[in-house]
Amino acid sequence: MIGSSSKTQCLANLAIVGLICCVISLFVYFEPQSPLCPITSTLGNGKVNEEPPAEKPIVLLWFWPLGVRFDFQICSSYFNIDSCILTDDRSLYSQAEGVIFYHKEINWGLENLPKEPRPHFQKWIWYNVESPTNTEKKTGLENMFNLTLSYRRDADITVRNEVTIKDTETKEEFVLPKKDKLVCWVVSNNNPATGTASRETFYRELSQHIKVDVFGAAFTGHPLEYEMYYPTLASCKFYLSFENSLHKDYITEKVNGPLIAGTVPVVLGPPRENYEQFLPNGSFIHVNDFPDAKGLAEFLQHLDTDHEAYMSYFEWRKYYEVTAHLLSMNNEFIHPVCLACDHISKYKEYHVINDLYGWYFS
Ligand SMILES: *[C@@H]1O[C@H](CO)[C@@H](O)[C@H](O)[C@H]1NC(C)=O
Ligand SMILES: *[C@@H]1O[C@H](CO)[C@@H](O)[C@H](O)[C@H]1NC(C)=O
Repeated sequence: MIGSSSKTQCLANLAIVGLICCVISLFVYFEPQSPLCPITSTLGNGKVNEEPPAEKPIVLLWFWPLGVRFDFQICSSYFNIDSCILTDDRSLYSQAEGVIFYHKEINWGLENLPKEPRPHFQKWIWYNVESPTNTEKKTGLENMFNLTLSYRRDADITVRNEVTIKDTETKEEFVLPKKDKLVCWVVSNNNPATGTASRETFYRELSQHIKVDVFGAAFTGHPLEYEMYYPTLASCKFYLSFENSLHKDYITEKVNGPLIAGTVPVVLGPPRENYEQFLPNGSFIHVNDFPDAKGLAEFLQHLDTDHEAYMSYFEWRKYYEVTAHLLSMNNEFIHPVCLACDHISKYKEYHVINDLYGWYFS
């Protein structure tokens, strides 16, 4: 499948629709019960790649994550990464410099891993974007991988929604979107097995003190349509960016979404200090800043009446910006794969991950 372009299953074929779909489906990124976003490759220019020059390393995707296929072409068309040959063709195994394994797809007996010996130049990449709570400890994965690919800052290849420094040229004024709701929450998953209990408890308490408009499958029984996600977030003054489980660096698209929409995220996840490592101070409100949900509700109500104080949460936009991610179910998996491609083409160091779980679960 080298460079081939699969343009099937698309609801719409306009690139802009694809982008919106992907932006608005940010919220489903790490949720185990995500609905499918029907866009596959509308972001590409539709060109089929000519055979790349032979000196590019081959990077083999061993499993399609959750069986979802995507178009490798997006690496070059959207992320500007074109430094390797991405393929799912297992017959290229013995030539591949990198082989990517999506953790969830590895079976417990490890029978679905390659049987052939590993070439001396080949690196196995452990690909996992779930938090430890939602990661199964399959045995036998020590001393197997050479690189980790995760949201963690200390992974070999880190995949995150980064806030970046603005180009000084682009200084358009931020215009606050029209607001007709105070606090909103879009939640697709409330399966307690995935660690959602603490956010749900907090939500229930908060909603006793302030009106929270809830959208998404978990509470309303039907998912918020993709086209509605972005406008819905924009129409709320605050958005509950509650992670499903609490882990270091596990700060997901649930924060990036409101930042893109022009809404203030109220975060529940790792401690404030961890957020401050990734987000400008003053761009978010942390639930731990308050003794309880009531205290948070009062603060949000205060900000609702104090326009100037509310607007201060958008000051960071003068200097920094956030980037919308390709996060439809079809596209959400592609960004890490592109980064792995980039890494393999740049770095040639020998490396072994000996204690995978010691690292990941610590
Ligand atoms: C960020 O803001 C919080 C709350 O206003 C404050 O406690 C903290 O010291 C600030 N951190 C930095 C790095 O300025
Ligand atoms: C990758 O890890 C394996 C397993 O520990 C090791 O045998 C191999 O030499 C490593 N290769 C590279 C290129 O780092």
